[in-house]
Amino acid sequence: MKEVLVVYYSQTGQLLHILENMVSPLKQGNIRISYYSIVPKDPYEFPWKKENFFDCFPESFLQIPSGFHPPEEEILKKEYDLVILGYQVWYLTPSIPINSFLRSDIGKSLLKNRPVLTVVACRNMWIQAQEKMKRLLVKIEAKLVGHIALVDRHINHISVITISHWMLSGRKDRYLGIFPKPGVSDKDIREADKFGEPIKNALLFDDFSDLQENLLKLGAVHINPYLVLTDKRGNILFSKWANHLIKKGGAGEPSRLKWIRIFNYYLLFAIWVIAPIVFIVFLLTYLPRYQRMKEDKAYYSSVALKENR
Ligand SMILES: Cc1cc2nc3c(=O)[nH]c(=O)nc-3n(C[C@H](O)[C@H](O)[C@H](O)COP(=O)(O)O)c2cc1C
Repeated sequence: MKEVLVVYYSQTGQLLHILENMVSPLKQGNIRISYYSIVPKDPYEFPWKKENFFDCFPESFLQIPSGFHPPEEEILKKEYDLVILGYQVWYLTPSIPINSFLRSDIGKSLLKNRPVLTVVACRNMWIQAQEKMKRLLVKIEAKLVGHIALVDRHINHISVITISHWMLSGRKDRYLGIFPKPGVSDKDIREADKFGEPIKNALLFDDFSDLQENLLKLGAVHINPYLVLTDKRGNILFSKWANHLIKKGGAGEPSRLKWIRIFNYYLLFAIWVIAPIVFIVFLLTYLPRYQRMKEDKAYYSSVALKENR
């Protein structure tokens, strides 16, 4: 009997839906699946109040952990043949609940020396978050064997508008009746079961060496070079902001909220003014960067970690 643990955090349920579809083919094998949903001690309210949405930025980006409820004893007792770790990105970084789990003794005891498959479901900007994830997994001596990224496939600026509507209203529907639905499409969620077969085979043969290659053949990861560039630039700018904001007080403190509001305006400026400039630079430097983009595509699709990227 093979044991699989699915660890996840999801506010809207989108990620859980994806994970359940993904593991559905595993149920036909001699495989037992356990779930652990991470529940923060101070839950993040959903739908978000605008202020809270921006106020969690410093702790999220700086990867400062917070408390969460431990799993039941039963979950902690077993040694898993595979851990599937479902996460979402908050500010170009694995979300606070997931980061907190990975930095905890519980995370370490569950994942140490275990093969781990990461599944990210987010708007579209996950590449640097996955690099951070790779480092967190190395730190707790877990072995990353596969990665699947499901995203909103609409163009960047449309998905910014629609995800704001979803996060602030709690409704995954068409904003104003004219925008597309936000998040991962119903089709991609439904078809996530296609990834179950290669996962099951790797698990049953106890050989994960070809798993990522097999997942890639099924479209597990799509690398958009423009988003790679934006994500990198975004991390540089976010680092300056986060280090500045964290000095202004704890979450919710008035002295900090004043700055959080300025950050909110800055983000709008970054999305609607800086990002289009980055796009023009991206187009102008497309040819000289072509080789590098090819290498990026291979690297970011892989489960390898190179510190000098
Ligand atoms: C505070 C916050 C920040 C977010 N930042 C990003 C981001 O940087 N990149 C991205 O692709 N998605 C981002 N998202 C979208 C999430 O990754 C995710 O798609 C959404 O929260 C739904 O996930 P869930 O229901 O599984 O929790 C953000 C969401 C929240 C709430």
